[in-house]
Amino acid sequence: MTVVARSASEDKDALRAALLGWYDAAARTLPWRAGPGSGTRTDPYRVWLSEVMLQQTTVPHATPYFLKFTERWPMVGDLAAAPDAELMAAWAGLGYYARARNLLACARAVASDHGGVFPDTEAGLRALPGVGAYTAAAVAAIAFDREANVVDGNVERVMARLSAVETPVPAARPELARLAGLLVTDQRPGDWAQALMDLGATVCRPKSPACLVCPVRDWCAGYASGAPERFPVKLKKADRPHRQGFAYVLRDGDGRVALVQRPAKGLLGGMMGLPTSDWGATPADSPPVEADWTDAGAIEHVFTHFSLTLSVRVATGQGEFVWTAEDAAAKALPTVFAKALTRGLA
Ligand code: ADE
Repeated sequence: MTVVARSASEDKDALRAALLGWYDAAARTLPWRAGPGSGTRTDPYRVWLSEVMLQQTTVPHATPYFLKFTERWPMVGDLAAAPDAELMAAWAGLGYYARARNLLACARAVASDHGGVFPDTEAGLRALPGVGAYTAAAVAAIAFDREANVVDGNVERVMARLSAVETPVPAARPELARLAGLLVTDQRPGDWAQALMDLGATVCRPKSPACLVCPVRDWCAGYASGAPERFPVKLKKADRPHRQGFAYVLRDGDGRVALVQRPAKGLLGGMMGLPTSDWGATPADSPPVEADWTDAGAIEHVFTHFSLTLSVRVATGQGEFVWTAEDAAAKALPTVFAKALTRGLA
């Protein structure tokens, strides 16, 4: 049997009704979210915080951070008053540390320039420091029910499949955003954005889409093609370069370990870290102090632009460092260093 999809753009009202109806029944319960169609909007601070956290990471990974942040800093003014180092330590493990600095800059601007009240339009939000096009659209739609086109990776995938877009990403991005925009209206724009996100996360999944339970299958040219998982079409990724380095776990014999604050600019900028060598093809072993260093094995970590093998070396010694309790240190460190520390203390 040949399956022919209904046209998503010509049959938009029916498609929208199908997806919103599905969302009314199947919306995930999430701590920053008001129930579908409830008319009550959650606090813009919580929506903004969740959206910043959810860029590049999943709901299960971000949720404990969201709960921790909102318990510790219940309002934007509380976050604005947080010392940089505390905020950076609380962000440890979420990755993309420049975002933590932007988060603080934005909270401080809202607190000092806007009386603690988030602007309620996409343009007003976009003008805040560190708020990009995606975050402005998402907060405008979800917190203020503004008609905004919210396009994240989930939405791109849904659009690529609905219209069986053959252009590979990233070149297809403007086209995918245009297709998403055709479906946005002033009716329930916050629910619409979240319905698309939930569909992308739970049904229209990257590897094994659950087309049999999909509320918009009838409109999906990707489904009709028989191979929806082929979309969005991707160019073969150039292999990630691989780097090597050394990380040094220096203990004082008194339950503390030596940490350093990384330079503000660059990878993991401003975060606490272990002392390390340079990272490259064949870096020299360059311990931060003279001591009796021994090998503790190695850890692997994958960053966006390269993968890394860190050889971990351990010693007891002294020096000018930020000496931190061994049992607490891992919690304040970015994941790569937490892994290396755990290996060094094992
Ligand atoms: N991913 C990004 N933002 C989201 C949201 N508001 N709800 C669910 N998943 C998301």
